[in-house]
Parts: sequence; structure tokens; C-alpha cells
Amino acid sequence: MSWLHTLTTSILTLMCAMGSDVVPAHAGDARSEQGRAIVKEFGAQLQVALGAALEEGGPVAAIRVCKEIAPQIASELSRQNGVKVERTSLRVRNPANLAEPWQAVVLNAFEQAAGDDTGPVLEYFAAGDATQPARYLKAIPTGAMCLLCHGTAISLDVAELLDREYPFDRARGYELGDIRGAFSVSWPKK
Ligand code: HEC
Repeated sequence: MSWLHTLTTSILTLMCAMGSDVVPAHAGDARSEQGRAIVKEFGAQLQVALGAALEEGGPVAAIRVCKEIAPQIASELSRQNGVKVERTSLRVRNPANLAEPWQAVVLNAFEQAAGDDTGPVLEYFAAGDATQPARYLKAIPTGAMCLLCHGTAISLDVAELLDREYPFDRARGYELGDIRGAFSVSWPKK
């Protein structure tokens, strides 16, 4: 877990430099485990839905999964766990997913820490305090399948539908192993 510690420490330094009041987190906090479990579930459910849609109708049909099913899974997991679960990124397809300032700080640190696609899974946890909620973020690497809709050579039919549905789309041009974004979990303030 030393990478988690190192990353957490470096991010905390960054946040303190910004005048924020983050209590140093330790990997043993029950919520960091909860965050990890929620995100694992989110990723698994999304992968199944996306895989099935791709197999059935190809990427054009699968866009619906990303647009409708992904937010549904996030809402359901949020309700079940009493937390806010979402996907975010520094370069978003849907402006509603744009990173909040704390998420952007951590995502930038992930990008600096990411060496290649075989590097460690990057995650972050801060325990929070009276003024700030506990937060967990886990980087999502770009896999081969993601390139169908987030890569540099998107097929014309997919690109046309994305143009129509997402006029502010900035989530193209990714390469294998790039950090596409992150799963995010925030707890209510204490
Ligand atoms: C079939 C096309 C398609 C595929 C394949 C796909 N995505 Fe997306 N992705 C989308 C669409 C559409 C959205 C916008 C969803 C929304 O409206 O919230 C999106 C949004 C996202 C977001 C939220 C941030 C943003 O840009 O709005 C992340 C993170 C993300 N995708 C990661 C991935 C990863 C990682 C993979 C591969 C495992 C992947 N996507 C595969 C179409 C796709």
C-alpha cells in the first residue's frame, strides 16, 4: 500500500498548499474499504451492461448504456450506501460529469503518478473532518474497448451520434493506458 500512502501524502501536500483542511488519511479507515467495494461493484455492473450492449448492437447501441445505465447504477449505489457515487474526468463527454476542484487536484496527481498501463491502480482517500466530507477516488484506465468511443479513430456512425448527443464532447483522443477519468465516492459531512 506504499503507493497509496505516497500518493495520499503528495496530494495532501497539494491540498494544504491550497489552504484546505484535510486530515491525513490512513488506508485502514473502514470508509476507504467501503469506497473501494462500491467502485468495484460500479465497474463490474457497468462492464457487464456495456459488454452485453456491444455484443448485441455494437458501439452505436452501447452509447445508451453509458448515457443512461451508468448514471442509473451510480444513483442506485448512492442510495444503497448513503454516499454520492459518480464518474468524473478532467476532459468530459458530458459536462455534468466535470471534475469538482478536489477531484481535479487528485486526477492531476494520478496523471503525474501514472507511468504506463501496467502501473499500479491509482486511488485516493481522505477521511474528512467537520468542514469536509470523506472522499475516495479511483482512476479508470483506458482499455482497448474504451477506444471505440474515446479513442483517436472513432468510426463515423459513432462519431456522428456522439456529435449529436454531446455537443461539448472533450472525451476523445485517448490512448490505451491513459487515465480516462475516475470513480468517485463522497460521504456526507460528519
Ligand atoms: C459505446 C461507447 C462508449 C464506450 C465503449 C465507452 N464509453 Fe465512456 N462514455 C460514453 C458516453 C456516451 C459517455 C457520456 C455518459 C454520460 O452522459 O454521462 C461516457 C462517459 C464516460 C465517463 C464519464 C466522464 C465523461 O467523459 O463524461 C468515463 C469516466 C468513461 N466514459 C470511461 C470509459 C471507459 C474507461 C471505457 C472503457 C472501459 C468507456 N468509457 C467505454 C461512451 C462510451
